[in-house]
Amino acid sequence: MSPLKLDYPVLTLDGQQLLPTGAELTEETLGEVIANNKVTSEPLYPLLNHGNVRLDLHEFMNCYPYEVIFAARDRTTEVLDLMEQAHLHPDILESLDYFKKVDFYTYRHIMIVYALSTLLAQDLLPDHRELLNGVMAGPTHDFGKICVPLQVLKKIDPLARTELLMLEHHAPAGFVLLSYYFRDNQHDAARVARDHHERNDSSGYPTGTHLNDRMVEIVAAVDIYDALISPRPYRPTAYDNRTALEELAEQARQGIISRDAVQALVACNRSDKPHSRDCTVSSEIRGIPPADNRYGLFANEDADSEHGTG
Ligand SMILES: [Fe+2]
Ligand SMILES: [Fe+2]
Repeated sequence: MSPLKLDYPVLTLDGQQLLPTGAELTEETLGEVIANNKVTSEPLYPLLNHGNVRLDLHEFMNCYPYEVIFAARDRTTEVLDLMEQAHLHPDILESLDYFKKVDFYTYRHIMIVYALSTLLAQDLLPDHRELLNGVMAGPTHDFGKICVPLQVLKKIDPLARTELLMLEHHAPAGFVLLSYYFRDNQHDAARVARDHHERNDSSGYPTGTHLNDRMVEIVAAVDIYDALISPRPYRPTAYDNRTALEELAEQARQGIISRDAVQALVACNRSDKPHSRDCTVSSEIRGIPPADNRYGLFANEDADSEHGTG
């Protein structure tokens, strides 16, 4: 398969260009990007101690429907203990300040996807080392959005094709940026950033490859879930929780996203908190998507192509 090619340049938050438009993401190119990161001993800082992150996170976890999801105290304490393990480069932490200031939706989304993907990973990744590595990937999955113009990130009207390309650039951009900062293009965080919009039936982006990676599948499912239940500029009324879960269950049935991840998501939404393997997912469709839903619409085109912006 030919290597992934960049449609736009990849720049750090302070404007340093890591790769230009048209660069192919080969091992050689990525090796050069990593070699350009001359600072090998820069200390990493705990994410939850950064600014008001811990307070903000607690606030987000206490909002509907997350207060139900995180109602089991013991499990939530374990999740928070795991989240304490995330130590990040100061430039990545700075991106959280940037999003909090200019695009609060993305800031909240990143934090809550981090918490929920950690909760699901606890269920689905029994190997502790895999779990520890995986949870590092949650808070950085949309890091590449620093390379997307704000007018595209926050646009109210349906995106034009070129704007959609700009938005989709966040996946390869995040991969390049995280390879650079972690000095490793195999790092879980880099892989999750690149692949969290890929799908199990190869219908995703940026490459349309068949997704088969548990941590990426977890983040992908959580990412869609949070996008559906949150009011967005292009869809002022969010999906209600039941309808969002039904939509995810339907996507799992169609082989688009991971059944295990959806099962775990449904389980943590139940008040009795069964283990995901003991939870059955109903195939009944009772909810109705919001009437003003414009999710997946392109300007001047029919809604024939679903895309998520999470
Ligand atoms: Fe996302
Ligand atoms: Fe994304």
